[in-house]
Amino acid sequence: MQRYTKTAIALHWLVALLIIGAFTLGLVMTDIPGFSMTKLRYYAWHKWAGVTVLALAALRLLWRLGHRPPPLPSTMPAWQRGAAHGLHHLLYVFMFALPLSGYFYTLAAGFPVVYFNLVQLPVLIGKDPALAEVLKVVHYWLAMSLAALVGLHVLAALKHAVVDRDGTLRRMLPGRSA
Ligand code: HEM
Ligand code: HEM
Repeated sequence: MQRYTKTAIALHWLVALLIIGAFTLGLVMTDIPGFSMTKLRYYAWHKWAGVTVLALAALRLLWRLGHRPPPLPSTMPAWQRGAAHGLHHLLYVFMFALPLSGYFYTLAAGFPVVYFNLVQLPVLIGKDPALAEVLKVVHYWLAMSLAALVGLHVLAALKHAVVDRDGTLRRMLPGRSA
């Protein structure tokens, strides 16, 4: 069984951790009532993690275009291979759409995004409260949909590891022969 490259594996798990972290922070920070330094700090961390996901997603897409993934096991029915590819494509779309919606929401709400308090990222649109209201809802639903897709993705990975035992999970885990 061929494995994913070391780069693909490193990017997969780094992005996964960042998405799970940003998602959790998103829920926690919006639940903090009123205004506090902790809330402000969590918003900043959330945005930095999200922008990092966007940058790594771009890197990952470039890498992926130049490196074919290892073929899926031939024992896998065609519909499952199709479903896996479809879901992977969708996950890529969400890795861009979700952080972009958060970024444009923040700009439309009238706040610049200052990455790690060091670099101000481009202010591509001006303050627009009506657009901000729409983008806030879009960001929320993109986040919930991504969570559902990741849930499916993880269930599929676990099914392959526990029921089929076909090595599909192992080829995405860090190991020696990548
Ligand atoms: C992988 C990336 C991201 C994930 C998983 C994510 C997820 C979430 C979640 C779950 C919420 C809470 C929604 C709610 O309960 O109302 C949220 C809110 C928010 N996100 Fe993100 N987000 C990401 C990227 C970004 C980026 C890049 C920015 C801005 C640069 C951003 C800005 C915001 C803001 C300002 C809120 C608060 C909205 C409010 O006040 O209701 N997010 N995000
Ligand atoms: C936010 C979390 C995650 C995202 C966005 C994500 C996204 C992706 C994407 C886009 C691919 C396709 C890689 C490519 O061909 O370029 C992939 C592959 C894979 N992921 Fe994830 N993943 C996440 C979490 C997980 C978790 C938690 C597991 C394990 C339980 C997992 C297991 C796998 C496996 C085994 C593959 C390889 C599938 C194959 O061989 O075709 N992923 N993931």
